[in-house]
Amino acid sequence: QQAVLTVPVVVHIIHNGEALGEGSNIPTEQILNQIITLNEDFRRSNADRSETLSEFQAVAADSEIEFVLAKSDPEGIATDGIVRVKGYKTTYSDNDNINLKALSYWPAEDYLNIWVAPLSGNLLGYAQFPVSELQGLEDSNNNRFTDGVVVNYLYFGTGFNADDFSRGRTATHEIGHFFGLRHIWGDGGCSADDFCNDTPLASTSTLGCNLRKSTCNSLDMIQNYMDYTDDVCMNLFTFDQKNRMRLVLESSPRRKSL
Ligand code: ARG
Ligand code: ZN
Ligand code: CA
Repeated sequence: QQAVLTVPVVVHIIHNGEALGEGSNIPTEQILNQIITLNEDFRRSNADRSETLSEFQAVAADSEIEFVLAKSDPEGIATDGIVRVKGYKTTYSDNDNINLKALSYWPAEDYLNIWVAPLSGNLLGYAQFPVSELQGLEDSNNNRFTDGVVVNYLYFGTGFNADDFSRGRTATHEIGHFFGLRHIWGDGGCSADDFCNDTPLASTSTLGCNLRKSTCNSLDMIQNYMDYTDDVCMNLFTFDQKNRMRLVLESSPRRKSL
């Protein structure tokens, strides 16, 4: 049993018919860059790991999960793991979930599907929880044909835009959900849990970057990838999050229903 788990990834670029590298038909470089960022964040080799508050350094974990663009497609033919498809509308909301994903999909048993698309409103991305016996995933609305994560093309990769979500952490956050992680504040008040003991209770999400925030009589871990903080302020997963993700990833088959 090897320590590092490697996840084959297919990236579906759902664009508006732009030339390769233009607009929502993002350059291959941006895709490769996001994969590098994911590997840094999940292996805790991210350059900003030293910025994790000293109070939390001891619980910050190398998740020992790595991502690699698929080298063969579902038919066994060599691929670069990137599929480019012209979509049917200019922007997509979460109501378009099923139709968006139906444009291009590889079997969820074998690949992590990442759809990159122009999303409407301020939607950064969204994910589907796994089917699992783990606490907090009981009412997951799982479907293998929609299994994976969706990320707004504007926020894919590190350094491709100039706003608060420019370091590729939207994909890190969504893949955290894909592996069964809940938001750090448990989506409720001080009694709502994220089912990880080493992440302190918090009463709400945190936007921006207030590092010394305390909402439930202890320091909030706002630098966790599973908060809503700006990308530049996020830099850790914890050991309990690592264990939860790896339990999901190692359950075989990961998907328990069709
Ligand atoms: N709001 C989204 C979600 O709940 C993503 C938040 C990502 N945050 C970030 N700093 N990139 O799944
Ligand atoms: Zn989230
Ligand atoms: Ca917790």
